[in-house]
Amino acid sequence: MGNMSNKITHTLMMEHEVILLLSQLLENINGLWETDKNAFTNNLQFMIEFCKTYADKIHHLKEENILFPVMIEQNPMLAQGVVGEMMEQHNMFREYIADIKHYLEKKEYQKSYNIFHEYLKLLEDHIQIENCELFPMADELISSGQNEQMYFQAMDLDNEFQVQKDFLSKKLNLLLNR
Ligand SMILES: [Fe+2]
Ligand SMILES: [Fe+2]
Repeated sequence: MGNMSNKITHTLMMEHEVILLLSQLLENINGLWETDKNAFTNNLQFMIEFCKTYADKIHHLKEENILFPVMIEQNPMLAQGVVGEMMEQHNMFREYIADIKHYLEKKEYQKSYNIFHEYLKLLEDHIQIENCELFPMADELISSGQNEQMYFQAMDLDNEFQVQKDFLSKKLNLLLNR
């Protein structure tokens, strides 16, 4: 018998909680470029790194490589539906991050801030859809045994990135509590 809380959807929701902390950090550095360009740049560079590694490589990969294929296998219609939509948004997020990086390098601080803000609003909506619509659907669609199997696959992926994952979430909390 599997443990009921060993669900990949649970792992993903906990990562959402960490990712959502970015909004607070961004809020905290609004306008900082006017008084301390270096501090603003360092913070934004960290946030870009966080998005690329934690949000995209570690989190989105779990969804795209582990959860979504199984959902589509159970219900092929989802490829054109909400699952396809989520994957499109992941691609859009990658473009947003590239844009933010581009404008930061050009020292267009306000612009890089504004794009980051827009990106995080979309990411919040995305997370809301996954938490409230997609994951409950997955838990319904997928047997608890298979859900647990995906949970362990997700853990294997996490083990590969454990050092980076710990570093990024600790540094995020550190910056937030400063
Ligand atoms: Fe997602
Ligand atoms: Fe997600």
